[in-house]
Amino acid sequence: MTTHSVGIDMIELDRVRRVLRKHPDRFIHRVFTPAEAAFCRGRVPELAARFSAKEAVMKALGTGARSVGWREIEVLPDQRGKPLVYLYGGAAERAERIGLEAIDISLTHLESFAVASVVCTQRIREQEPEDARPRLIARLRERGLLEGEGDDERLPDELPPIRK
Ligand SMILES: CC(C)(COP(=O)(O)OP(=O)(O)OC[C@H]1O[C@@H](n2cnc3c(N)ncnc32)[C@H](O)[C@@H]1OP(=O)(O)O)[C@@H](O)C(=O)NCCC(=O)NCCS
Repeated sequence: MTTHSVGIDMIELDRVRRVLRKHPDRFIHRVFTPAEAAFCRGRVPELAARFSAKEAVMKALGTGARSVGWREIEVLPDQRGKPLVYLYGGAAERAERIGLEAIDISLTHLESFAVASVVCTQRIREQEPEDARPRLIARLRERGLLEGEGDDERLPDELPPIRK
């Protein structure tokens, strides 16, 4: 059986412009592969769209930027200009571990923002265990991420109706 994993991200061009102005070499070398840097040639909309692309891929991988390196995700155009995603190192391992097969990406940029959207096909390797949600609630509670009524581990249809 196959399912999908998706990721979306949006970034302000000004944010990228500021980082680029402050640390041009460090930003380019830390985030982009040599081929990406050569393609973007310092152009802010292209850099921003690819930065956003990497974050969108990280979301589809289910990781944040801490677990996967920026340069382990590379976005380059094919002969018609359509962006293609290449994964390396830890990002490729993570994709393999969670059963991601094809990755497709779409980018857009306007004067102020760039957006990237990713769709991957994903092999389902195992059925989600029935106690997955209670364990998730317990983990969120341990991390202090649930407050007040969010602390209630009953399913929505087991809760008393809301009175207006
Ligand atoms: C998830 C990540 C990749 C992007 O987050 P972000 O750009 O800071 O914030 P966004 O608004 O785009 O995304 C937030 C949403 O991502 C989703 N998200 C968080 N962790 C996620 C994960 N591991 N997998 C998939 N999605 C995730 C959540 O839905 C979250 O919204 P919520 O808290 O309301 O549920 C983040 O882990 C990260 O590391 N960002 C790096 C930021 C950075 O270095 N910026 C430098 C700018 S020059």
